[in-house]
Amino acid sequence: MPSTAIPTTNGEGNNNNVSHLVPVPIPEPAPNFDPSTLPDASSPSLILTHPTPAERARTWRLTHPMWGPALTEKDYLAREAYLTTVPLARNGGITHWILTVRDMPPDARPVLSSCESIRKKAISVRDGKVTEGVCHGIASVFTDPVYRGRGYASRMMSELGRVLKGWQAGEEGALFSVLYSDIGKQFYAKHGWAPFESSHVAIRPRKREEGVKEVAVPIGYHELAELACVDERLLRKDLASRRDGRTHVALLPELDAFLWHMMREDFMTKCIFGRTPTVRGAVAGKPGQRVWAIWMRGYYGGLKKMEGNTLHVLRVVVEDENRPNEELVDGLRSIIRIAQHEAAEWFAQEIHVWNPPPKVKFLIEKTGIEFEFVNRDKDSIASLMWYSEGPAEEVNWVANEKYAWC
Ligand SMILES: CC(C)(COP(=O)(O)OP(=O)(O)OC[C@H]1O[C@@H](n2cnc3c(N)ncnc32)[C@H](O)[C@@H]1OP(=O)(O)O)[C@@H](O)C(=O)NCCC(=O)NCCS
Repeated sequence: MPSTAIPTTNGEGNNNNVSHLVPVPIPEPAPNFDPSTLPDASSPSLILTHPTPAERARTWRLTHPMWGPALTEKDYLAREAYLTTVPLARNGGITHWILTVRDMPPDARPVLSSCESIRKKAISVRDGKVTEGVCHGIASVFTDPVYRGRGYASRMMSELGRVLKGWQAGEEGALFSVLYSDIGKQFYAKHGWAPFESSHVAIRPRKREEGVKEVAVPIGYHELAELACVDERLLRKDLASRRDGRTHVALLPELDAFLWHMMREDFMTKCIFGRTPTVRGAVAGKPGQRVWAIWMRGYYGGLKKMEGNTLHVLRVVVEDENRPNEELVDGLRSIIRIAQHEAAEWFAQEIHVWNPPPKVKFLIEKTGIEFEFVNRDKDSIASLMWYSEGPAEEVNWVANEKYAWC
């Protein structure tokens, strides 16, 4: 157990039972194929298609040690199934993909590589002209160790990049797709996803100091809807004002984009701690002059180790950047202190704020709170495939923050 006491704040007691969810049957092991007898990665007999439920569950069993070590295998399988039912993913918003052999029967064919995509709302703006559209977020790219190094993930990604342009996006097609590479910048760049800024501010947790009165107040679930609406309106206004001949794009910071993270967080904290958090961020200032941050806790170490447990700031918003800096700094300092306390309470090793824009970075520096600025070169490299004219590198990805991750 962590040394810090975890607060019971939702009145649910210490019940880490998620067994009321429909259990995912543990599938039979995958059929065994000798890789040397399988088609070459360039073979026309390979196809990009969708897995059966059993093929999907077999893949989850394989990915559990890598992406679900904070959970038991049973809970990880249940989480992955649950994550097909939450905002963004539900009603077909998530699609599972596999590369396999065209003429072999489902459930008796090799899954040569796999991944998933989630449909999200996005906009692209150039000199005030707004295009509403779809962005696909790609996640969980995985090849069974026995099939690795044979070009199967490469084949899958090169097909997927093309297919996603026309996937669930109407006649106009998707605007772009994004992914977050944990294997550096080269692999996905080779297949058309250009690396974008991938930095973060890292802050250590800290218990609340006695007697310090905060100017910020915690944000709960019920406040998210209004904040997401204001955020989207401000972001749209900002993009529309950029008339510099460049294309500016953003994934919309809409309520569902936050709920996806929070329901994932709820599932994990329920399994790990037996309860769910109530503090989802913090806000300071009067309406119209507010500063806020929304966050979620992500776990890879679980209770076994703190490493890999992070309180991720999903989004920071400064409603009016023209307010006096001292006021904004006071608000942000208080917000960060609440985040530090939450991180300490919930067994997180660090707080991460992804790609803070210059004004937010300036304000963080002025708070006097100790932080480290990290430029990532291997993990979570934000990467974008652009589906319109011109190279992806010329596109300006605005609000490239953690809320866009999946
Ligand atoms: C990454 C992965 C999907 C590649 O699958 P694969 O079918 O072996 O891929 P391919 O044979 O098409 O290509 C292998 C390429 O990936 C690169 N690669 C694999 N693992 C890598 C790593 N950890 N770091 C950097 N590059 C890596 C190889 O160097 C090789 O590069 P090359 O094309 O220049 O030769 C597979 O190794 C895997 O499932 N790893 C564990 C899960 C993972 O990390 N997924 C990526 C999450 S973003």
